[in-house]
Amino acid sequence: MATSCGAGSASVPGRRSIAVSAHGGCDAQARALAARLGLPLAQGADASSCDYVIEFTPRGLALRDVRDVRLKPLVVDLSVKPRRVSRRDLLPRAIGRKVLTVVDATAGLGRDALLLAGAGFRVTAIERCPVISALLADALRRAEGTWADAITVVEGDALEVLRVMDPVDAVYLDPMYPPSPKPSALAGKELRMLRDIVGTDADASELLSAARRCARRRVVVKRPLRAPPLAANPLGCHRGKLVRYDVYGPESS
Ligand SMILES: C[S@@+](CC[C@H](N)C(=O)[O-])C[C@H]1O[C@@H](n2cnc3c(N)ncnc32)[C@H](O)[C@@H]1O
Repeated sequence: MATSCGAGSASVPGRRSIAVSAHGGCDAQARALAARLGLPLAQGADASSCDYVIEFTPRGLALRDVRDVRLKPLVVDLSVKPRRVSRRDLLPRAIGRKVLTVVDATAGLGRDALLLAGAGFRVTAIERCPVISALLADALRRAEGTWADAITVVEGDALEVLRVMDPVDAVYLDPMYPPSPKPSALAGKELRMLRDIVGTDADASELLSAARRCARRRVVVKRPLRAPPLAANPLGCHRGKLVRYDVYGPESS
């Protein structure tokens, strides 16, 4: 899939074109964001020639699919604690009881990061797509004073970030699933939009190796129920109805 979400994507043929909308009375902010992301600033009708526009809205920074007006613009919300989350839930159980700090190395829309924060972990959420990372950072600012205070967002490629990071208790990975001929219930509109923007994560196995070098206790990888494991011989596996979490030890174990 030819997609791009970073600097200069608007001028690369065959990739998703994204612009920052100058509409909405936030001119200076829009200009600054466009400059930071290396994206063009779209004035009024200019936006209709792009695939996506990033807009400043009262709900927060929003990513709108220009080609499908029925789709609700994507706004990340980190202010609401996921309902009934506890350390006994599948993902927190997979992460482990003795863990305090977790690096979510594939932050995406921050849902799992929020779930982990809600379960009491301190979370560093790494996202390499600058557009998605900007949505996350905006959501984190708006959620100040909530559970989301336990989350820190880092923009960058986790392969690089983990290489220079001090060891952490656990690393969590949820790489983009390979495209399925039968889209599952999990592939909601927001996830489909995310996939359209970031493409597939072909380097997920490399990321698992980097994660195992950085984690003191364990690495947890989310997989579709019937997909093969990302690497051979996981130490264990926590199965849910739709997904499973494979657990790997640190590299030395
Ligand atoms: C399936 S989504 C994750 C969804 C996320 N768990 C959530 O709850 O919203 C995968 C995300 O990981 C990001 N990603 C993949 N590999 C990465 C890497 N090496 N470094 C940082 N982000 C990465 C992709 O850009 C994408 O946004």
